[in-house]
Amino acid sequence: MGTKLGTKQVTKQSTKQGPKLNARLGGKPRAKLLAKSPAVPLAKPPRTLTRSRAELPARLAANAPVKPPRETLQQPPKQPFRHPPQPPLPALMPKVPAAPGPTLLATCRAGFEPEVIAEWTALIGASPSAMTAVANSGVVSATYAFSHAKLVANTLRLPQIFARTVMSANAMPVVLGLQDRVTPIVDAAIAFMTQRGIKSIAAVWVEFPDTNDGKSLTKLAGALTSRIGEKLEAQGVMNETAPRRLHVFLSTKQEARIGFVDIDAPSASPWLLGIPRLRMHKDAPSRSAAKLAEAIHYFFGDDDERMLQPDMRAVDLGAAPGGWTWQLIHRGLNVTAVDNGPMKGELVDNAMVRHLREDGFRYLPKKPVDWMVCDIVESPSRIATLVAKWIGEGWARHVIFNLKLPMKKRHAEVERCRAIIEEALEEKLGEKSRRIELRFKHLYHDREEVTAYCGMPPRPREK
Ligand SMILES: C[S@@+](CC[C@H](N)C(=O)[O-])C[C@H]1O[C@@H](n2cnc3c(N)ncnc32)[C@H](O)[C@@H]1O
Repeated sequence: MGTKLGTKQVTKQSTKQGPKLNARLGGKPRAKLLAKSPAVPLAKPPRTLTRSRAELPARLAANAPVKPPRETLQQPPKQPFRHPPQPPLPALMPKVPAAPGPTLLATCRAGFEPEVIAEWTALIGASPSAMTAVANSGVVSATYAFSHAKLVANTLRLPQIFARTVMSANAMPVVLGLQDRVTPIVDAAIAFMTQRGIKSIAAVWVEFPDTNDGKSLTKLAGALTSRIGEKLEAQGVMNETAPRRLHVFLSTKQEARIGFVDIDAPSASPWLLGIPRLRMHKDAPSRSAAKLAEAIHYFFGDDDERMLQPDMRAVDLGAAPGGWTWQLIHRGLNVTAVDNGPMKGELVDNAMVRHLREDGFRYLPKKPVDWMVCDIVESPSRIATLVAKWIGEGWARHVIFNLKLPMKKRHAEVERCRAIIEEALEEKLGEKSRRIELRFKHLYHDREEVTAYCGMPPRPREK
């Protein structure tokens, strides 16, 4: 039945593929937000040597090195010299550790930088000693104390909700020359590899912020990808079968961050910039069809056809105008679409779709179904309770649902919903609840929301 929008249209980035990105890059103007280490405004020197700190405007006094009054200079000290008490560090002083510890670098949707930091803080159980998180930049980095090195390494092996890709990175950016941007990047990459005992890498990806500003770096990133690759090839460190990949993140034309990912780590997106290559089918009734396609690919990968088989039965709560229903029937499932709103296009009169104008919170299936999907716009905790009910009562074996997050503390809200579902399932199912998977992801197609899977997937196939 028609073509399906899913893994078959998803292509992974090849090693030297230039990032030809479409015009979907969106974003907001940059503004400083979270920086623990913001730039300190350059202070003008005092006009006369005799001007005292007390005479300076308060803003300058905080940062400017001020010469002492002339009289002090002329009087030799009577006591053996002692350093005068130092004024406390100004609050805005850049906070960079003497020897930088392990550093995480992540890309995310612009505006979700605080969520990435909040998630790392929860996973690592500590705040970073230094970080860069410029609002709406789509990139975050955090440096931790050496005592947290193991926890930082573990974080790289875990799936992440808000980060698209997490890398092990250098604490400091690489400053790029105007004539030769390649050499400083290659030098920094080789130094990093030598330090960590990384012998070879499989590929080089040059990325940039997924924002309007970032789009202007597309051409440069394409050119750098092949030139950096060639130089590293000449140094004998490129090896297609190596488990790691080098990421060069261009913050601007003058500055890059470098990081490394384990290609198979769940914290690393298989797509350049974390943007899946999904084409919207012209007949799909809404853009949401691509969201469900991305969710299926993210949660099940190559197991998608085992998870969603023709003739399975599904319920779609909050179905109109029908993007998710469309995605399901194009995989051969029969769908009960529950929504007071109208369905669109081919879904209006389709034998595989039964449209019920009912309240999704009251609807009960007559018989258990294979799938329930839910995209109702409601408070996240109410959706979480509904999902727990469907799985706990055995009304559905698998659920994909979306949580709308219009609030500020989005990571905290997701964790609250996780707790609601886990507690409800434990109460209902006891020990058996431990076999249930619950995963959340801020997909590329998600805006102020996350998508989640809850259910008991079949065991992976024997290889
Ligand atoms: C974001 S839209 C769903 C889009 C849909 N997934 C698609 O792919 O086209 C949310 C839908 O939830 C529906 N809705 C809101 N409250 C509902 C409820 N209590 N029961 C059923 N549907 C509800 C709205 O009518 C709206 O059509």
